[in-house]
Amino acid sequence: MTERVKVAVVFGGPSSEHDVSILTGLQVLEALDPAKYEVFPVYVGLDGQWWTGDALRNRKNYIPDAALKRELVRVSLNIGASREGGRWLLREVGGGLLKRGKTFAFDVVIPALHGTWGEDGTLQGVLASEGIPCVGGNVGAMGLTINKMWTTGAAASAGLPVPATMYVARGQDVAAKLDAWKGTYPVFVKPNYLGSSIGARVAKDRADAEQAVAEVFRLDTAALVQRCIGNLVEYNVAVRRNRKGQLETSAIERPLRVGESLDFKDKYLSGGGLDKLGNKLGAAREGMASATRVLNPPELDAARDGQIRNWAKALFEAVDMAGAPRLDFLCDEATGEIWFNEINPLPGSFAYFLWEGAQEPVGFSELLDDIILEARSRMRSHARVVDPVANGGAIFRKRGV
Ligand SMILES: Nc1ncnc2c1ncn2[C@@H]1O[C@H](COP(=O)(O)OP(=O)(O)O)[C@@H](O)[C@H]1O
Ligand SMILES: [Mg+2]
Repeated sequence: MTERVKVAVVFGGPSSEHDVSILTGLQVLEALDPAKYEVFPVYVGLDGQWWTGDALRNRKNYIPDAALKRELVRVSLNIGASREGGRWLLREVGGGLLKRGKTFAFDVVIPALHGTWGEDGTLQGVLASEGIPCVGGNVGAMGLTINKMWTTGAAASAGLPVPATMYVARGQDVAAKLDAWKGTYPVFVKPNYLGSSIGARVAKDRADAEQAVAEVFRLDTAALVQRCIGNLVEYNVAVRRNRKGQLETSAIERPLRVGESLDFKDKYLSGGGLDKLGNKLGAAREGMASATRVLNPPELDAARDGQIRNWAKALFEAVDMAGAPRLDFLCDEATGEIWFNEINPLPGSFAYFLWEGAQEPVGFSELLDDIILEARSRMRSHARVVDPVANGGAIFRKRGV
């Protein structure tokens, strides 16, 4: 039997989407095939501390308190000293003179992380600097797509329709910017970086828009003022590159909404609420998977269905994305017009239910197999050429390198 691949599943983190990330992390831990992988959880607290231990596999233990942490091991990634024997190591924090700290070896990281810290290129950069394969987009792709303004620009240049959008950063003259806004009202105002619909709302007129921007500035460093799409319905689709190297799309979903927009509650708490979720890990109806949705909505005719899929694939390529991101679109139900909205490179539950519902269904563990394989082969192909010149022509002789 070949040796199993060692996988570190990282989740939690100092992000507003900390709790949702725990759900995704537990689902990933459960879905990975134990015949192929040796998996361990790495929970990152809101304070940024990294912990591992079997107790982290049980959802009843969240959020770990001081008593539970005594059952866990606090670990760190030592930059410049993480590689050992062709693998990487997490090391116990606080191993002393008498006791050598425990080590945890791994071959690849799955970041089951949403939002700032982990879906934004930060963790990806740390891992890439050590040459560690990490599932999903690289530091550049993740850094680009966490920024809604940049993503909108990339989408427009790749030929996707986007709503008229204005960027306003803290410290800028908001009144002057709104004076220059050529669009009509209402507008939609939202944070540039934050997710989960936090701080996002319709603003009915200019004064209200100024107020909404001020509200965003309490949460985020920049806001977007955007043409508000009326009669809103939303369509989401996931994209990946399959083992044959072809781009493939999942089922399209239309999330069902209660209010005007899909807010945090609609997204994560519908279908009974978090408190009612069972304790069985990996139960199919958790987190994003529990939100009510229509898969392959019948009102989407073949032409618009195909259009959404082609746009999603074009943007996946244009931003050099990897993994299985979900791309979200806005549609005016009255006119049928569709605009690109945003990319979620690491969507809640990795949107596995969209893959299960694809024309050629892909199971969650198969999806994970493929994105792990992709992460490892991408890292190998990006291995740096340490010294481009032959030893004789180099400035210094490399002895024993
Ligand atoms: N231009 C817009 N017009 C109308 N509604 C919008 C617009 N942009 C976003 N929304 C609504 O707000 C929700 C959250 O915005 P989104 O850009 O997806 O940010 P995030 O999901 O990262 O919080 C969307 O799912 C949609 O319901
Ligand atoms: Mg969204």
